[in-house]
This record gives sequence, C-alpha cells and structure tokens, in this order.
Amino acid sequence: MSRICVAGGTGQVGREVVGRALDQGHAVAVLSRNPPPAGEAAKIDGATYFRGDVTTGEGVPEALAGADVVIDCLEGQTGEALKLFATGGELLLSAALEAGVVRAVLLSIVNCDQTAYGFYRSKAEKERVYSRSELETVTVRATQFHSLVARLFAAGSRVGLVPTIRGARFQTISPGEVAAALLEAALEAPTGERHRLRTIGGPEVKDMKAMAQTWKRVTGARGLVIGLPLPGPMGRFLREGRNLAPGEPYGRETFEGWLEKRRENL
Ligand SMILES: NC(=O)c1ccc[n+]([C@@H]2O[C@H](COP(=O)([O-])OP(=O)(O)OC[C@H]3O[C@@H](n4cnc5c(N)ncnc54)[C@H](OP(=O)(O)O)[C@@H]3O)[C@@H](O)[C@H]2O)c1
Repeated sequence: MSRICVAGGTGQVGREVVGRALDQGHAVAVLSRNPPPAGEAAKIDGATYFRGDVTTGEGVPEALAGADVVIDCLEGQTGEALKLFATGGELLLSAALEAGVVRAVLLSIVNCDQTAYGFYRSKAEKERVYSRSELETVTVRATQFHSLVARLFAAGSRVGLVPTIRGARFQTISPGEVAAALLEAALEAPTGERHRLRTIGGPEVKDMKAMAQTWKRVTGARGLVIGLPLPGPMGRFLREGRNLAPGEPYGRETFEGWLEKRRENL
C-alpha cells in the first residue's frame, strides 16, 4: 500500500487517479482549492480531501503529510492561474521534499515545448521545474483527450456548426487511461534515473473531420461540419502533427468507443 497525494484530484483526470488508486488499495489524499462538500457525488469515498492552493502554499503541507508520492494533475488555463502554473509546481515540489515524499509525477502535454503557444509554454515551463527538482520525478506527456475534442464539437453544435481545424489530426486518449499511466508511473520500481519523461497517446490517429462525423453519428447531434483555418503557433503545431505520439500507442479506448459509453451524458 502506498500513500498517494493527488494534487488536482477533483479534476477530470485527478478524479480517475483517485478512484483507481483507492481500488488498488492505496491511501489517497486529495488537494484542491474547492473540495466537494461531504455527501456530494463528486467526493470519492475513502479519499481524504484537503483544501489548499499551490499558488499560495495554503493547505499544501497538510495534504502532503505522510505521502510517499504526489501526482500533479493541476490545471491553470488563463490569467493569473496560467501565469502561476509553473510557480505552483515549484511550490508543490518544495513542500513535497519537505514532507519526505520520494517521487513526483507530472501530467503534461505531448511536445508542449515545441510551440510558442502560451498555454503550452506554461506546461513546458512546469516540466522544466520538475526536471530540475531534487525529488525523483516522472513527467507523463499525454496527447489530447477524447473529451477535449468532444467538447469543441458540442459547443459549436449549439449554434448549428461542428467546427474542425483544417489539416488537424488527433490521437486522442481517454482521461481514464491517462490516469492509469500516471498511477503506473507513481508506483513503478525506481530505475535509478532521477528524471524520466514518457509520452502516451490514444489508439488511433484520426482526421478531425472524420472525428466530427463520428461524434455526430454517436450523439445524434445536428450541425454542419465545417473546416476552419487556425492561424498562429497552435495551428502550425497541429498541421505539423506535433500533437501526435508515434510508436506503440498506450491507450486502447477509441474516440468512438469512449463516446458510445457516454452516449447518455454527452
Ligand atoms: N485536455 C486535454 O486534452 C489534455 C491533454 C494532455 C494534458 N492535459 C493536462 O492535464 C492536466 C489535468 O487536466 P484536467 O482536465 O484533469 O484538469 P481539470 O479538470 O481542470 O482539473 C484541475 C484540477 O486542479 C485543481 N486546481 C487548479 N488550480 C489549483 C490550485 N491553484 N491549487 C490547488 N488545486 C488547483 C482543480 O480543483 P479546484 O478548482 O477546486 O482547485 C482541479 O482539481 C492539465 O494540466 C491539462 O492541461 C490536458
């Protein structure tokens, strides 16, 4: 049994990590700014929830106390949260070191260091924080999630359009399989390497237009599939296929299979 602190354990991937770790018999502490109130479905039985903020340090030592390993599933998309994303990682790691944690696992994005797109730059900056840490670290870079693309389609279809990015292909992966990879990285035997980096991707590479058709068929949603140009560094990143993870795929669950399972909730 390991003691695992999941930073961001109330989020999309974090929740999956928490559920899987508990199923495997580990003790789990969850750190987030707004833990779900007792009795709410989002609260997973068996986990201990701590209110804290990695950008201020408040509540962080309490959540890390007694942990062997910390898994960082945090997010910071805009404004101050984006600006402080890497700093938050630094604060989390120094508190982890102080608490006697032996390993930290970071969830990041495939090839985030290969574009000038600001959101990805913040991910690359946090990766560098991890690679400089005195702690043993594993950075797991994932391709885009099935849910990200499904959300884009759903948002557009509300106004009658299913938007796709011209020239974009995706190798999306399910958040549950990403969580499994994070947990594996957290629990594997030490290799002697202080900082490790691995990349995981979904089972198939699909043109975004084909994904839009699949999404329409499975959800029964209406909307005209349109191709839009995406200018700037992110557009280039996608057209160059830098969002893909060549080689043996980690994920087994396809976009279609993932959608089918959630048909009622999409
Ligand atoms: N979407 C994709 O396609 C994709 C692909 C690869 C990697 N990723 C990356 O994977 C990571 C996890 O993604 P996700 O979708 O699971 O994120 P998410 O659902 O937005 O969850 C983020 C979690 O972090 C917590 N959090 C945010 N700021 C915090 C702070 N200052 N202090 C403490 N807790 C904080 C949130 O809880 P509170 O709000 O209550 O604090 C929540 O538990 C992100 O870095 C994301 O960019 C995403």
